[in-house]
Amino acid sequence: MPATVILTKRTRFCAAHRLNCPSLTPEENLRLYDKCNNENGHGHNYQLIVKIRGEIDPVTGMVINLNELKKIIKERIIVKLDHKHLNHDVDFLEGINPTAENVVVAIWEQLNPAIGDNLLYELELIETENNAVFYRG
Ligand code: NI
Repeated sequence: MPATVILTKRTRFCAAHRLNCPSLTPEENLRLYDKCNNENGHGHNYQLIVKIRGEIDPVTGMVINLNELKKIIKERIIVKLDHKHLNHDVDFLEGINPTAENVVVAIWEQLNPAIGDNLLYELELIETENNAVFYRG
């Protein structure tokens, strides 16, 4: 039996967002999201850590082709999010309040079918030095 390992790939993107829930009043939104409700948004230097779990291929010695993985993450996520406003510029975030929680789930939905073979194990989206979310599908 080939060994099963988890590998991680760290990527980075810079983006703006505004947290605002349309079903709440402006006062309620301000109370709930505070600075993050700023009308014109604010920015983060995000890090996205993609974790892949699978068996080591006995021929290649790898779980996944890292160049292919890098290309998938770049085309599906980084190109679409880097230097963008998450409330306005991203097709797959349309109508979504871009909290880290909602964004990590939306990223999973973009990456999982592209990576395939049940290899995507976990995503970690780091929003600030102190805040991160994890998602396992
Ligand atoms: Ni924020």
